[in-house]
Amino acid sequence: MCGIVGSINHHNIVPDLLEGLNQIEYRGYDSAGIAVIGEHGLTTIKRPGKLKQLETYLSTTPLSGHAGIGHTRWATHGIPNEANAHPHSNDQVSVVHNGIIENYLQLRQWLTAEGFTFNSETDTEVIPHLITLFLARGLPPTQALHEALNHLDGAFALGVLFKNDKDHLYAARRGSPLVLGKGLQGLSLGSDTMALSSSVKEILYLEEGEQACLGRDVFTLFDPKGKPISREMQPFDQEREDNGKDDHQFFMHKEIHQQVATTRDTFHHTQHCLLDIPLDFEQFQRLTIVACGTSYYAAMVAKYWFEQIAKVPVDIDVASEFRYREPLLSKNGLALFISQSGETADTLAALRYAKANDQTILSIVNVAGSTIARESNISLQTQAGPEIGVASTKAFTAQLAILAKLAIHTAHYRKVIDVKEVKHLLNEMNALPGLIDITLGIEDQIKVLGASIKDAKHAFFIGRGINYPLAMEGALKLKEISYMHAEGFGAGELKHGPIALIEPGTPVFVIAPDDSLLEKTLSNAEEVAARGARCIIIGNQASIRNLPEGMEHLILPPCDNRLSPILYAVALQLIAYHAALALGTDVDQPRNLAKSVTVE
Ligand code: F6R
Repeated sequence: MCGIVGSINHHNIVPDLLEGLNQIEYRGYDSAGIAVIGEHGLTTIKRPGKLKQLETYLSTTPLSGHAGIGHTRWATHGIPNEANAHPHSNDQVSVVHNGIIENYLQLRQWLTAEGFTFNSETDTEVIPHLITLFLARGLPPTQALHEALNHLDGAFALGVLFKNDKDHLYAARRGSPLVLGKGLQGLSLGSDTMALSSSVKEILYLEEGEQACLGRDVFTLFDPKGKPISREMQPFDQEREDNGKDDHQFFMHKEIHQQVATTRDTFHHTQHCLLDIPLDFEQFQRLTIVACGTSYYAAMVAKYWFEQIAKVPVDIDVASEFRYREPLLSKNGLALFISQSGETADTLAALRYAKANDQTILSIVNVAGSTIARESNISLQTQAGPEIGVASTKAFTAQLAILAKLAIHTAHYRKVIDVKEVKHLLNEMNALPGLIDITLGIEDQIKVLGASIKDAKHAFFIGRGINYPLAMEGALKLKEISYMHAEGFGAGELKHGPIALIEPGTPVFVIAPDDSLLEKTLSNAEEVAARGARCIIIGNQASIRNLPEGMEHLILPPCDNRLSPILYAVALQLIAYHAALALGTDVDQPRNLAKSVTVE
């Protein structure tokens, strides 16, 4: 979570740090801060709350320097206040940290006994003190940092400044991601490439345990033992997307609307990639899919696709549980990891577990060069572009687009589907962007619907078969951005308990295209309607033909029922968005959340 940036340059780096923090504020927005080395020595400025607070302060109290570090925080240890904000500095050293130091309590005791005082409740504050302890024992900065790292348990990506080493900026990583960038004017570092200055032309990802010392023009890399090593930087020519909101009030709204293009681009891109990837689609007998949150719901949908279309048995797991249940993985099996950010700590740990257990690792990520992509044998990239809104929308439908293509491709190679059917499914997929466009065209109607539930105590989403995971995703979207209590269930499951929560007027969204389970789904709707629920059937012309009186409906265009989750997801996103808008929440940066969850 937390995002870190750093820069050492021939010009004033404060605007670069703020620009970098702006780009990665989605990683956490509990507080923000920077530390710079300038003519007044080492200065640290931090503010609780969003980055705007820090920017406002700096606009009236200008600061400049040629080397600096910055941080945007998602609180783990200690409440979001100024004392707990990063950078954590003493009079010698300043540190920004992404990760968790697991042995910080022991280190704190030791450092307190050595005479250091602590001003925060964070795990991070031990790091500057530890480095300072080794400086005081006579070690130069590179070695003092290396020695300090040897005492840390846990995960970290660090940016470090030394008051008495004005011409260098230091970096280190273990567990959390860190990338270095080089431009014409200097060097920079960041939690991801978005954090780097737009002038960066070359990048290098630090590997596990590596440490770096950055000057204005050159840097030195050290292996985990502290031995200097050399590795070439890679050219970096990624055009920075236009990250404005255009005419949209929130990024999430823009991103929902981008799905016509992002699903189309992902379909086309995947089609080409699949022809090239060295994976024996005929051979693998069992597939394991692992992910978190919305990406996990994409995995749940994919289980239906792989089992029904490609006839491949699939195991799915939430990443945070996967390795702890010590799963029995088939020999030389295929394990697929889905992650928008490509950095989610639980998913990465699950990937490493699968790798250690001889699985071939396939991943689907939205961020090229992310750790999950780099540690996979094969990685497919969703063509969603940067997703800024914390709630995943276009990345989810792009994940589904790849997964559907992958399932059809696998079915084709395993010869469990005839060519005519493959063509039919591909045609249906190609039609989906147009159908998404039609769905976006009824936004005014969805807006009224979304706003109408704003005073409800609970909201439920139900669906059967492939629409069951979608019900979970609809509920997740609503709760994370509106803070309303919402739950998703398999429609048949309600009567086994959750139906007790239904009160007169409780909104129940019923995902009901005209598939083979429609009648059963509508029976479940009737059961809750009989107990006073307000049922809203989300279906198509055919499925709402014989609705019982009193049930409301939202009509989406018809599509192949196997692919409907991609289309119906868009309607659910808009319902959540308009409910949140009516409630006045911060849709793009909902409370307590962060976009990239890099702690376990
Ligand atoms: C919800 C959401 C999260 C993420 C989850 C996994 O809208 O975005 O549930 O899906 O944190 O993140 P990634 O996909 O980056 O691994």
